[in-house]
Amino acid sequence: MTDEPLVLGIETSCDETGIGVVRGSTLLADQVASSVDAHARFGGVVPEVASRAHLEAMVPTMRRALDIAGVQLSDVDAIAVTAGPGLAGALLVGVAAAKGYAVAAEKPIYGVNHLAAHVAVDTLEHGALPEPSIALLVSGGHSSLLLVGDLARGVTPLGATIDDAAGEAYDKVARLLGLPFPGGPPIDRAARDGDASAIAFPRGLTAQRDQAAHRFDFSFSGLKTAVARWVEALERTGEPVPVADVAASFQEAVCDVLTAKAVEACREHGVDVLVIGGGVAANSRLRALAQERCDRHGIALRVPRPRLCTDNGAMVAALGAHVVAAGLPASRLDFPADSALPVTTVAF
Ligand code: KG4
Ligand code: ZN
Repeated sequence: MTDEPLVLGIETSCDETGIGVVRGSTLLADQVASSVDAHARFGGVVPEVASRAHLEAMVPTMRRALDIAGVQLSDVDAIAVTAGPGLAGALLVGVAAAKGYAVAAEKPIYGVNHLAAHVAVDTLEHGALPEPSIALLVSGGHSSLLLVGDLARGVTPLGATIDDAAGEAYDKVARLLGLPFPGGPPIDRAARDGDASAIAFPRGLTAQRDQAAHRFDFSFSGLKTAVARWVEALERTGEPVPVADVAASFQEAVCDVLTAKAVEACREHGVDVLVIGGGVAANSRLRALAQERCDRHGIALRVPRPRLCTDNGAMVAALGAHVVAAGLPASRLDFPADSALPVTTVAF
């Protein structure tokens, strides 16, 4: 349909410079330049290095995305950019670039929320999101359960991690096991050869006493410590660490809690659609276990393909297109890059 908005999305909240082009819920281009290799030897993203890499990648990535989409900047109806949350310096590069493009091409600009974009991206694969839905958002910096009506009008947080994010736990445990950064993919791979029931790691905030205050919250810091203790104890005795079993058992603990609470949230709120987004949604065990549990409870599960789960510009364009279609006013040109933007602010 030609009356759907053509939106350019710019993402720079962490270590991926992402530029996406969508028309409504149709993906036209999705180009990502990652600086992950520059951070790998530090075991985590170095903010200054990420900012500089965004600066260098912005123009070439933009050119590639527009070329692939077969459009010019002058064709787009709006520009959407991640305004937060994320690394302050990294966000600033994207927001400044987006404002520059918007002013130069005389286009409306929308500063949007990275977390809501992780939910919106699913529309590119599975069409409009039924209302209401429950969203499980699991990334390197956030883990939340959200009740989502019209995404353009905001989301209702049901719970969130009280310490580490799920992706952060993967990254920290990978480091303990001598696996590379980011830790999600190598743990996912190692776990395939392991026994998920080999070690009974703790399931945070699932005890009866936690139900009153933290029913839909998560905690992964105790799990990470339990893995560290287990590995250290073995190392003291000089025994080799069974990496595959530890990876599989750790992963099972994370995925068990995430899927159990997500399904519980659906049941509690009488919602029959669960959407999972964020980098950890690329995890093979999380996807399989969520499918199994959703099937058991008659819940329709929506998870974008792994490529769209990790940070990219298409997700920002998808949220932008939704916000434009909903008739929300464009952002003022002086909107900030807000590293701590709350999940409830979908667009400025
Ligand atoms: O959404 P994302 O790309 O960036 C943030 O917004 O944080 O998420 C990155 C996180 C990292 O912690 C990474 O280890 C994790 O997603 N991740 C995975 C997998 N792929 C990426 N975690 C588990 N399994 C995966 N296959
Ligand atoms: Zn993300």
